[in-house]
Amino acid sequence: MSAIEIAQILDATYLVAIVLFILAIKWMSSPSSARRGVLVAEIGGALAVAATLCDPQVIQYKWIVVALIVGAAVGIPLGMVKMTAVPQRTAMALTFGSLSATMIGIAEYYVGYPHVTRFGMGEISLEVIIGSLTFTGSLIAAGKLQEILPLRPMVYKGQNFVSLSVLGAAVVLAIAMVVNPNLALLFPVMIAVSLFFGVLLVTPIGGADMPTVISLLNSYAGIAAAMLGFVLDSKVLVIAGALDGSSGFILSVIMCKAMNRSFTNVMFGAFGQVQAKTITEEEPRTVRSASPEEAAEILAAANRVVIVPGYGMAVAQAQHKVRELFDILTRKGVDVAFGIHPVAGRMPGHMNVLLAEADIPYDRLLEMEDVNSDLPQTDVALIIGANDVTNPGARTDTNSPIYGMPILDVDKARTVMVIKRSMSPGFAGIDNPLYYMDKTLMLFGDAKAFVGDLVRELSAVQGTPQEASGSRVAGD
Ligand code: TAP
Repeated sequence: MSAIEIAQILDATYLVAIVLFILAIKWMSSPSSARRGVLVAEIGGALAVAATLCDPQVIQYKWIVVALIVGAAVGIPLGMVKMTAVPQRTAMALTFGSLSATMIGIAEYYVGYPHVTRFGMGEISLEVIIGSLTFTGSLIAAGKLQEILPLRPMVYKGQNFVSLSVLGAAVVLAIAMVVNPNLALLFPVMIAVSLFFGVLLVTPIGGADMPTVISLLNSYAGIAAAMLGFVLDSKVLVIAGALDGSSGFILSVIMCKAMNRSFTNVMFGAFGQVQAKTITEEEPRTVRSASPEEAAEILAAANRVVIVPGYGMAVAQAQHKVRELFDILTRKGVDVAFGIHPVAGRMPGHMNVLLAEADIPYDRLLEMEDVNSDLPQTDVALIIGANDVTNPGARTDTNSPIYGMPILDVDKARTVMVIKRSMSPGFAGIDNPLYYMDKTLMLFGDAKAFVGDLVRELSAVQGTPQEASGSRVAGD
């Protein structure tokens, strides 16, 4: 086979990979097609890697094999982490991706030196600046999410000025190097300044904004990969990086909207502060609790139930029990839907993934806007391990760290039931006024165990919703 024919086959393979990546992004935007999207993306990635390995420009495989072994040794355990640790796992993946983009940029500079062109220097500079700041930024984000570093924002006076000056210094160094690419002494300084900027970028950001930051860093890693594609003259890398960069950016904007955060504020930090506790100085307030028997009676008497899952459902791995609850209520003629908040849990789509695992029909999963208009006509809002995403204080309490974040309006349902183990706060570290409302019943216990008890009780409850419609909570 001639060199031209090989090149054509490789180009065709890259083209197929690119089409698969685009389809994958399209399919991943809906829960019903997301699995197909992931599979297609994997096939596209495998094709791109295989085509690259068959490129005649690869003259020896020794180091590639070593890198594959090391990468697999690190990647396999990283891929096996618990679902609740996926945000920090994603941050670590971004760390590796951006580190490799930076290292290749460094290699390209020194391999080309002293003949690097101005244009080439511009590409390399962008690649190493974005790659370096994403590397340290992702490391700090992973440390915060793993709680090795404090989740609270670390802020000081004039911080935005300092951060922007450091970024400005990196840009000035890059311009100096584009003007004269042989100023080799400036190259490591530019990288060091960019690494430092990544630290400054993420340390002032609080826990509540961390998911958006991860998505933003994902976008930066995509841009670094696209720049790397220009440096290596790899179209597949340019397009895959651009897809990654733009989809990460769009996801960040969607998440900012879901949490009512200003996008520029998240980018420049010092927001989403996590409060230690706000309940201590308040008068002790009473809550009403109920047993599984009482809760099951109310559920059996309802016409419509909206289940709101949250982080606690993920921790308890209660999704399969929730499926049983869905089945038994549906069999009893209750109309059951799920209210999904965009940032429930600890990663985008967290609840969708868990409910899909339990085979809950996709058409029963309603997005926040859709379910909120239904909640005033809903008999029971059953909250399973969710807290912040149901906190009505986000609408009214201007001092709340989540003030302005759109929530699921569960307090508008006729009866509210909350399954959680205690009165402990959720991720934002704040009390939830929902729990003290007259219409709220606290169902204290582990989500999996309590939902299991509900299923058992419901199996024992006789009668149709109509027959039981007069039943209320014991003690009412
Ligand atoms: P949270 O506000 O974190 O509340 C979860 C609740 O689950 C806790 O109050 C906890 O109360 C309860 N819980 C924990 N383990 C449980 C178990 N085994 N059984 C029953 N309940 C259990 O969760 P949410 O409402 O899903 O809100 C998500 C929060 O995380 C938001 O503040 C969001 O901004 C943030 N966040 C989201 C993401 C993404 S992208 N989704 C990423 C990072 C952070 P007890 O301890 O009393 O049981």
